[in-house]
Amino acid sequence: MTPAPGALDPLAHTRADFPLLERTVDGRPIVYLDSASTAPKPRCVIDAVVGMYSRHTANVHRGVHVLSEEATEAFEGARAEVASFLNASPAEIVFTRNSTEGINLVAHGLGFAPGDEVVLTALEHHSNFLPWRMAARAVPVGLDDDGMPRYDEVERLLSPRTRLLALAQVSNTTGVVAPVEQWIAAAHARGLPVLVDAAQSASHLPIDVRALDCDFLVLSGHKLLGPSGVGVLYGKRDRLAQLALYQTGGGMVRHHGDDGFTPHDVPQRFEAGTPNIEGAVGLGAALSYLRGLAMDAVRAHSLALGRRLIEGLREIPGVRIVAGSAPLERRIGLATFTLEAAGLSQESLARVLCDRYQIIASGGYHCAHILHDRMKLAGTVRISTHVFNTHAEIERALAALREIAAW
Ligand SMILES: Cc1ncc(COP(=O)(O)O)c(C=O)c1O
Repeated sequence: MTPAPGALDPLAHTRADFPLLERTVDGRPIVYLDSASTAPKPRCVIDAVVGMYSRHTANVHRGVHVLSEEATEAFEGARAEVASFLNASPAEIVFTRNSTEGINLVAHGLGFAPGDEVVLTALEHHSNFLPWRMAARAVPVGLDDDGMPRYDEVERLLSPRTRLLALAQVSNTTGVVAPVEQWIAAAHARGLPVLVDAAQSASHLPIDVRALDCDFLVLSGHKLLGPSGVGVLYGKRDRLAQLALYQTGGGMVRHHGDDGFTPHDVPQRFEAGTPNIEGAVGLGAALSYLRGLAMDAVRAHSLALGRRLIEGLREIPGVRIVAGSAPLERRIGLATFTLEAAGLSQESLARVLCDRYQIIASGGYHCAHILHDRMKLAGTVRISTHVFNTHAEIERALAALREIAAW
């Protein structure tokens, strides 16, 4: 018996909210399966951004006029929305440009001494690897032949020189949920802080920073159905207060005189210069939209799509899935794989999916060169979902791949 569409895809009603899904390529509707790269925006986000530009343009925290009051209220309202989304307090929410900037802010602010170490995984996105590598000695847990980090090795890598642990809650290449709790417990047993990279996970799982007890967490607006150019660094108050200043300038200073300056308290002290006001307000709208769908429902849908995607890929001859043996119940709706077909490179394959089948997917190295080197892969294709995707779209992608595999 075929299940009713609503039963398989309880969030299918959201499709009408995303103007981008009406796009065609060569006159045929697209199938958007590239949200791990960046996600389409629902109309409420677009309206929130346009509303700021058309009705409330003013700088925040500076002006004395009514428009500035309105802009400040909207901006701080967005901060409160982010705080609710993460179960944090607004004073713990720093607006950044993206996850990358949040990680750089912490890497810079910790003031590492020569020889200090940061423990992470060899699978981290370049944005959660290079800032640590630049500031300290990056000590990664290795990968197994399937591309999965050997998370259990963390204890062995902790040393008297370890200053922090940095870990993606969900990898952008495997789509597997990491044992973040285990890493946090190991770190806290030694008084060490943990930074959680939630750039991918925040779109797929409910996150409660209090329950998780992480010290820092970063996310990016554009992957969370929000605008580009805005992100978030969450930090426990005392941890944020201990960070050295990352950038200085207007907006972060309480007083500046001949003898020096006094910065504002957290979070303003880390928000030098005019922030991305419209972006923050758009992000607030995106998070309110996601909360309206209920993150538990979002998680269940992502899990179901991921399950079908992996099961379908396993049946296609010539497909190799990164972390293909990881348990289905620890995955999100994302799969990275290679398909040996007609001498096509993996990048060409992603292009064929677009040009011939109107399927928008990623092809390349996904900012994870070490993984590709380790697995001896010259690139991979990545399919990734969000709330609006349906099982029918996964079937369409699988059918296209089956067809290409037979070329
Ligand atoms: C796991 C992970 N971390 C960090 C980033 C960096 O995000 P952004 O480019 O928005 O700073 C990404 C982006 O793909 C990611 O997937």
